[in-house]
Amino acid sequence: MNPITDAIRIRTERTNEMEHSSPLFLTSSFVFDNAEEMRAAFADESDDNIYSRFSNPTVQEFVDRMCALEGAESGYATSSGMSAVFASFMTFLKKGDHLISCNAIFGSTHTIITKYLPKYGIEYTYVPANKPEEWKAAIKPNTKMIYIETPTNPGLEIIDLEFAGRLARENNIILNVDNCFATPVNQTPIQFGADIVLHSATKWIDGQGRVLGGVVVGKKELIHEIYMFCRSTGPALSPFNAWVLSKSLETLDVRMERHASNALYIAQKLENHEKISFLKYPYLPSHPQYAIAIKQMKNGGGIICFELKGGLESGRKFLDNLKMFSVTANLGDTRSIASHPASTTHAKLTEQERLAVNITPGLIRISVGLEHRDDILNDILQTLEKL
Ligand SMILES: Cc1ncc(COP(=O)(O)O)c(C=O)c1O
Repeated sequence: MNPITDAIRIRTERTNEMEHSSPLFLTSSFVFDNAEEMRAAFADESDDNIYSRFSNPTVQEFVDRMCALEGAESGYATSSGMSAVFASFMTFLKKGDHLISCNAIFGSTHTIITKYLPKYGIEYTYVPANKPEEWKAAIKPNTKMIYIETPTNPGLEIIDLEFAGRLARENNIILNVDNCFATPVNQTPIQFGADIVLHSATKWIDGQGRVLGGVVVGKKELIHEIYMFCRSTGPALSPFNAWVLSKSLETLDVRMERHASNALYIAQKLENHEKISFLKYPYLPSHPQYAIAIKQMKNGGGIICFELKGGLESGRKFLDNLKMFSVTANLGDTRSIASHPASTTHAKLTEQERLAVNITPGLIRISVGLEHRDDILNDILQTLEKL
């Protein structure tokens, strides 16, 4: 079956009620008929569910659908994207290890890498997302993992996954990819050599701004280690959230197609606007890594970013004059969202750190929703007029 079909048709076993839509197993634990069955489950001699921190059929349905979409052998779902990121680091990195990360990453991931990993004796090197020629020199004998986001948040840098996969393989390093911005219907990093792929399912996967969730998928033996870490430390996804997210996967492909076609339309209309000094969208030929984007992504995704000529003050004014857009911290929603990273998600970085990852004072990030494309465009145009 095509993965798009699997994302719709994979489901928990039908119960005796003969329900059409998947049931929700909202339970913290599972019962056994006798002591022997329970002993066998705890001894890993059976696949029986024990406790929802370990496994749950509704959570497993979501994981199985994600594995089908990503082309992964196995997966584990977490309570948020950040718990997926943290689990992927803590499972594989130990004192004395070295992590290479692209420098343009989500703000909280930056905090984990720079504030918490060093507390456990794990060192890191940031490499420029847009200068892959510098990556090889950053590899040390103790480098255990390369961590990347592509497209990056919020600067929309594109990293060549084929290059990153080859570099990791040649040096026996785990390649860990945050695929949140593209989603698996647009880009499948495992195909290019990623060992682990993770998501904030809170974003496009939910797609309607309802629940938090995360997931890590990849090679079976690696995911088993992540499972053992999470089983003991407890960042399990709630079955209710898994049920919501699993339903969302049934429409992910059609939603992302429309998000992307709306985004391309708006990017083309705004590209040469007099109030904008530059605009970035992966599927515009003016994007510096356009050639890589069209090689590894099926479309340009739902995020656009642009720099307002008036800098920080214009950034604030832009948000204040929007009429329809939501001004909120999330992205990947049916409703279009505008944000100003310099004063919000990336405020914890120093000005210098922000500039190093192309977060300029007037940078606006647009998460293009599913409203009519002209309503989205007109709201942006009317606020630009007021600057
Ligand atoms: C690229 C990326 N990774 C990870 C996260 C963290 O996800 P969550 O908010 O679900 O913990 C986010 C959140 O915005 C993100 O944009």
